[in-house]
Amino acid sequence: MEKMNAIFSRRSIQKYLPKPVTRNLIENVLKAGMNAPSAGDEQPWHFVIVDKHDLLEKISTIHPYAKMLKDAPAAIIVCGDLNILKFKDLWIQDCSAASENMLLAAHDLGLGAVWIGVYPVENLVKEVRSILNIPQNVVPFSIIGMGYPAEEKSSRFRYDTSRIHNNAW
Ligand SMILES: Cc1cc2nc3c(=O)[nH]c(=O)nc-3n(C[C@H](O)[C@H](O)[C@H](O)COP(=O)(O)O)c2cc1C
Repeated sequence: MEKMNAIFSRRSIQKYLPKPVTRNLIENVLKAGMNAPSAGDEQPWHFVIVDKHDLLEKISTIHPYAKMLKDAPAAIIVCGDLNILKFKDLWIQDCSAASENMLLAAHDLGLGAVWIGVYPVENLVKEVRSILNIPQNVVPFSIIGMGYPAEEKSSRFRYDTSRIHNNAW
C-alpha cells in the first residue's frame, strides 16, 4: 500500500474476526513501532504482546472504552520506560509516534487496529500494570487492539483550511 493511502484510509477498527494474528504479523507491526522517531533517539519503549483471551478480557473489564478487547485476538501494550530517558517528559510523544506507526503498519498488513488510551489516567495505568505484571518504572501508555477486521469503515478526509494559519495566527 502506498504510504499516503495507508494514512488516508486508516480507521479505528473495533470488531474483529475470530482468527488468530500470526507472530510474524505482530513482529512486523512491532518493527514499525520501533522505527518511530524519538527525542534524541531515546527509544524509551517496551511492548507487551497480549494474545491470551483471559488477559484481554480482564483488561476489557477495567477500561471503560476497551470492550472490544474481549473479542480481539491480540493487543500490544505500548509502554514507556522511565529509567531509560534522555529527556524527562518526551517519552509521551515518543510512545505516541510508535503507536501511530503501529496503527498504520497494521492497516497496511490487512489488519484492523485501534489505539486505546491508558496514560495519563492513573487508575488505568495502575490496573493495566498490575494485570500484566509491568514494573513500577514502566508506564503502560496505550493499547493497540488488533485483529482481522469484521467491519468496514470508509475513509474520512479531515483536511480543514480553517485550522491553517499563514506566517502568523
Ligand atoms: C490518545 C487516543 C486515545 C484513544 N482511546 C480510545 C479508546 O479508549 N477506545 C477506542 O475505542 N478508541 C480510542 N481512540 C480512537 C479514537 O476514538 C479515534 O481515533 C477517533 O474517533 C477517530 O476515528 P478514526 O481513528 O477511525 O479515524 C483513541 C485515540 C487516541 C489518539
